[in-house]
Amino acid sequence: MSQLTVTPVVVITLTATFLLLALDRSGELGRRQPPYAPPARPAAMAPAPAVVDSEKGKPPPHNDTLEDLPEGKGREVTFYACTACHGVALIKAQGLTRDLWDSTFDLMLEKHRMPPVEAAERAEILDYLSEQFPPRRRGRGGDNPFLK
Ligand code: HEC
Repeated sequence: MSQLTVTPVVVITLTATFLLLALDRSGELGRRQPPYAPPARPAAMAPAPAVVDSEKGKPPPHNDTLEDLPEGKGREVTFYACTACHGVALIKAQGLTRDLWDSTFDLMLEKHRMPPVEAAERAEILDYLSEQFPPRRRGRGGDNPFLK
């Protein structure tokens, strides 16, 4: 092939490449999807369904088992009431008085749409939580695993 026939090929290829690059940058090729926006919920509609309804049938987002909670009275009822939406780590990370566990319970019910729990069951869960996860001692060694 002579120099004269190669040159136009190179020129055309380069021109086409730059054109494609320019088009791509301007977004003409493969138009980008607009960011996802959930459809607006008409004001007249019922409130959003509870988390647990839309998640029905789905396994909870963790692999925790009953044994991941410390042994004690009320462990089972606590496990099944409290791990539908999150693992036991969130619970074990807290050390609260019974009153504050009570408020946490309300928070789960009101803010996170936890399904209602019978009074007797709630009391058992609160007993379990306040016994197993009481406020941690402050001061020397209280929170520091290296000072035990
Ligand atoms: C219906 C779902 C649901 C149930 C059932 C539920 N929770 Fe929660 N919980 C949540 C959500 C959602 C959060 C926030 C999660 C996050 O921040 O990742 C949360 C967070 C928490 C936290 C962390 C709060 C904080 O301030 O960091 C604790 C403690 C907790 N839950 C305890 C409980 C206990 C105890 C129960 C059982 C009585 C329970 N949860 C049952 C949904 C639930």
